[in-house]
Amino acid sequence: MISIIVNNKKYEVDVEPEKPLLWVLREELELLGTKFGCGFGICGACTVHIDGEPQQCCVITIGEVVGRRITTIEGLNDRVGQCLKNQWVENSVPQCGYCQPGFIMSAAALIYRGFVNEESIRELPNICRCGTYQRVKKAIYTTAD
Ligand code: FES
Repeated sequence: MISIIVNNKKYEVDVEPEKPLLWVLREELELLGTKFGCGFGICGACTVHIDGEPQQCCVITIGEVVGRRITTIEGLNDRVGQCLKNQWVENSVPQCGYCQPGFIMSAAALIYRGFVNEESIRELPNICRCGTYQRVKKAIYTTAD
């Protein structure tokens, strides 16, 4: 059994330590907001926070996160998280919606760091095939104001 803390809750899961965190979240914990896109740490669809830092969890094993604090889109419910989710709705950001949880997790990390500007938003490691980037930017700026 491996013990992990996700969204402030402790879970015991019976998996190999090499199993990617993404698949533990989705298959064992049924937290389906974290998406699979590329599986190579490139697209950002699987972004979660580990000890407050944004990470692509398709390339992190569960063995690497024992004892660390994992937050998924389902648990991003602090003031910044709520405000971002509201702004995503207000600005009709999603099109197909698939990549958006990862975008919100990356955006929250930017705001926590107080590091919101054109360049930092452009450099977010999230790819959206629908091209929602302008609406993403607006939602981030409104939340950060
Ligand atoms: Fe993890 Fe693409 S699925 S970065």
